[in-house]
Amino acid sequence: MMLELLVSALVTIFVVQVLRLIFSDCDLTLQWAEMFGRSPERLKGKVVWVTGASSGIGEGLAYRLAEAGCRLILSARREQELNRVKKNCLARYGGVQEGDILVVPLDLVQRGTHQQAVDTVITHFKQIDCLVNNAGRSQRALWLRTSLEVDKECLELNTLGPVSLTKLVLPHMVQRKQGQVVVVSSVAGKFGAPGIGSYCGSKHALHGWFESLRIEGYDDNIKITMVCPGPVFSDALKAAFTEERGEGLGVEMRSSENRMATDRCAQLIAVAMSNRLDEVWVSRNPELTYCYLFQYFPAIARKIGVRLGQTRYRKVKAGNASLH
Ligand SMILES: NC(=O)c1ccc[n+]([C@@H]2O[C@H](COP(=O)([O-])OP(=O)(O)OC[C@H]3O[C@@H](n4cnc5c(N)ncnc54)[C@H](OP(=O)(O)O)[C@@H]3O)[C@@H](O)[C@H]2O)c1
Repeated sequence: MMLELLVSALVTIFVVQVLRLIFSDCDLTLQWAEMFGRSPERLKGKVVWVTGASSGIGEGLAYRLAEAGCRLILSARREQELNRVKKNCLARYGGVQEGDILVVPLDLVQRGTHQQAVDTVITHFKQIDCLVNNAGRSQRALWLRTSLEVDKECLELNTLGPVSLTKLVLPHMVQRKQGQVVVVSSVAGKFGAPGIGSYCGSKHALHGWFESLRIEGYDDNIKITMVCPGPVFSDALKAAFTEERGEGLGVEMRSSENRMATDRCAQLIAVAMSNRLDEVWVSRNPELTYCYLFQYFPAIARKIGVRLGQTRYRKVKAGNASLH
């Protein structure tokens, strides 16, 4: 009798977990944190610097953090768009005032300008509690057709840009013995995929850099939160790198695509921040299940990945399918 009860309890738990996985849009730890952990409102008053805040996920995150009462630094290259985001924050959320949101235009590739940007922020707010390295560009191009210049551009923006800015922000956090660095990677930072080789490489590299910092920053109370989104609605396909240097893909996402809403992604990132989680997967299925498979059964996941990826790769190579 006891054994039957135990077995049925275990089966129930297993079925519930499988259902939670199928219908979820994030990993189980993040789900748990959203249900029972600290809400993003606990970030009220924190000084948070969001790069790539002029569109997409960064813009959505700026709104969610403004709603939570954070003081914000908004950065990207397009100052006009940043001012639009700031205006929206002030109009929508009464908890933030004009002086609580600072627009700091910044090109992540122009590393020589980063120190000046950090100085501007420190002069205004005196501290930085959290840096969200979100800015980045995706890519659509086959590996062999991609020029090495594109590989370099991708690394310069997606990897060295965040590393450079973090190196300059970190001393201020270390001095105060507190700080959080959020890195918006991708599920493409966890496993490979056809047609986005340079992007995958640049996102995988982020994990190496920041997982090392996680260990070195521990004594100074520096928390690293790696965020791995799956497909999310944004302007990512407009700006994505292609095969040749200087090109943008120029494609609009269609509303029918299986992607997460931008504000939902922002909410989940904000939960990951307020709960100071180590790494989160923010994605619908099938990518979410593939993350689990790749994490716990890499050999099986690679076999599936190669099989499915090959079919798509051959079609693209033959010109019978597009990469987006
Ligand atoms: N959307 C997705 O499906 C998805 C999935 C996984 C991961 N991600 C990651 O999420 C992050 C945000 O992307 P998104 O999807 O929100 O795309 P997005 O709408 O195109 O936003 C990209 C942001 O990065 C900024 N940026 C681009 N180049 C820059 C540069 N040289 N210097 C400073 N800022 C720069 C852009 O602003 P300016 O043009 O004004 O500079 C923009 O604010 C990226 O790291 C991306 O890899 C996205």
